[in-house]
Amino acid sequence: MKLVIVGASGGVGQQLVSLAAKQGHAVTAVVRSGSWAAPAGVETRVGSLTDVDFLAKAFEGHEVVLSGLGLRLKSIAPWAKPEVADFLSTSTPAIIAAMKRAKVERVIAVSAGGVGDTADKVPGAFRTFIRFSALRHAYAELEVMERLYRSSGLQVCLPRPTGLTDGPVTEQVKVCESFEGRATISRGDVAWWMLKEAVTPRFTGQAPMITVTGA
Ligand SMILES: NC(=O)c1ccc[n+]([C@@H]2O[C@H](COP(=O)([O-])OP(=O)(O)OC[C@H]3O[C@@H](n4cnc5c(N)ncnc54)[C@H](OP(=O)(O)O)[C@@H]3O)[C@@H](O)[C@H]2O)c1
Repeated sequence: MKLVIVGASGGVGQQLVSLAAKQGHAVTAVVRSGSWAAPAGVETRVGSLTDVDFLAKAFEGHEVVLSGLGLRLKSIAPWAKPEVADFLSTSTPAIIAAMKRAKVERVIAVSAGGVGDTADKVPGAFRTFIRFSALRHAYAELEVMERLYRSSGLQVCLPRPTGLTDGPVTEQVKVCESFEGRATISRGDVAWWMLKEAVTPRFTGQAPMITVTGA
């Protein structure tokens, strides 16, 4: 398939790029900085994620947009502020407009367990942590991102992973209704699930919570 990956330099994004290339897909990686090096055979487009003209050109001729975008925090401290607080609020409308202009109809964008109608499906302690830590910024922006995609008229899938790790790809991903304690999924498994969904859509119009452990 012809896949375009936005947020290709991030944790999930890099896994998407390398796994998609390994699976034989034609991959275009969209990043904001030219210092990021793509694996061999992957085309890279460098530009602003809020520039509709740039994005539309990058998206042309592709079948699915895969997004690993998220807020970058200024540090790893639990109280850290985001680098760009409204990044998903401003980049999502640009991605949607660019997809429509480039006639790409499908998007699979990573969200998070606990967003939207899964807010009460996560353990209470984790809900409190989201509320009082830097995660509240990310969750608020993911809520907006989901809302914008859902009302876009595009074919949208918004997987909501549990806690991300840098562990191996296990291919043991489950869709779950709720989880307990510390549920985790590796960034590689999130990418694996998103690519599976790109090839065989089963969750269009849905935002399934996905995990490997804890459910
Ligand atoms: N951590 C968890 O346990 C957890 C659990 C569930 C869901 N999630 C969500 O999953 C998503 C992916 O997580 P991740 O760890 O893979 O994220 P990540 O490594 O922080 O990657 C974020 C991506 O967004 C890009 N980005 C951020 N701000 C940008 C800006 N102003 N302009 C252009 N690009 C920008 C980054 O580009 P640069 O590389 O150029 O900065 C990077 O490609 C996030 O939305 C996260 O909230 C996380």
